[in-house]
Amino acid sequence: MKFQGVKIAGTGSYVPEKVLTNDDLSKIVDTSDEWIVTRTGIKERHIAEDDQFTSDLSSEAALKAIASAGITVEELQLIIVATLTPDKTFPNTASLVQKKIGAVNAACFSLEAGCTGFVYGLEVGAGMIGSGLYKNILVIGAEKLSSVVDWTDRTTCVLFGDGAGAAVLTATEVENNAYLGSDLGSSGEQHDILHIPAGGCAIPFSQKVVDEKLNTLQMNGKEVFKHAVKGMSNSATKALEEANLTVDDIDWVVAHQANVRIINAVGQKLNVPSEKVYINVDRFGNTSAASVPIAFDEMIQKGLVKRGQKVLFVAFGGGLTWGANIIEY
Ligand code: ACO
Repeated sequence: MKFQGVKIAGTGSYVPEKVLTNDDLSKIVDTSDEWIVTRTGIKERHIAEDDQFTSDLSSEAALKAIASAGITVEELQLIIVATLTPDKTFPNTASLVQKKIGAVNAACFSLEAGCTGFVYGLEVGAGMIGSGLYKNILVIGAEKLSSVVDWTDRTTCVLFGDGAGAAVLTATEVENNAYLGSDLGSSGEQHDILHIPAGGCAIPFSQKVVDEKLNTLQMNGKEVFKHAVKGMSNSATKALEEANLTVDDIDWVVAHQANVRIINAVGQKLNVPSEKVYINVDRFGNTSAASVPIAFDEMIQKGLVKRGQKVLFVAFGGGLTWGANIIEY
């Protein structure tokens, strides 16, 4: 084993075709476009078909990321899928992606860190390449949140959407390392302010679970909001310190797209000019682990992020979990 540098060689993303607007939602629950836009900034979100699963969304994003990285599917040595909506509880969704894209030489596992999943995945992938163990790793953040949302609960169902984003990490010379700094954290004390109570071994599926909708996402919105702003700004600050950089050195902030008010509050706490903070929650809603890689890939497609620029990823989610990574693209 010989220490190696790490870089993001390519990215890709995919969202399902079907669009659900706020006006569409106002026909399902007692809500309005005005309420949703004012409180969250969300105007519409994409919803997967019944027969379209997290592994399908992942595979679409993965193939684009592999093509943009200029490697073959066979060169992938590891696939990590960050998700809270796996196709099945077991086995892991990454193995299903492997089958769908034909990555026969890849080891596979999934990672569950809520909306922070992709940021955790980058850290794991970067560590495994940096240590010299791997050369090409595919990190995916993907969700079919529409499958765990209670579509009668207006306090949650307006927030979420489906989609996937992916990045191929590859090895470089140590002196060209482009993974500059990071921070990860968690507080299990607040595990129940944002969770799906049933379906695990604590409350296995039963008629009671279905009757009481314990298999759907439940959230204390106000508490999550407070923790999200604090968690993301603290984590970003720690990652900057570790990278020996200041916010002035950062070209772009790609924050978890939960809510435009949360993103703006984090930007203000970090003292980042708003034009450096990318926002696409208006068109995709909160896609949890997929939100950071979808936003990042969209920025690259639009020509906003250029090679050599420094990008700060920062996210927060159920667990609670939080994290930030700083990369040079
Ligand atoms: N449409 C209309 N009215 C609504 C809706 C809706 N969709 N949802 C709630 N209301 C009502 C409530 O019933 C309440 O009415 P009341 O005053 O008569 O009781 C009123 O609006 C205010 O509700 P609050 O919950 O106080 O609204 P708040 O300003 O806190 O906004 C929100 C709610 C948007 C969920 C906010 O708390 C939030 O964004 N929290 C962060 C949650 C989040 O982003 N979670 C995502 C997962 S975690 C993550 O990704 C970081």
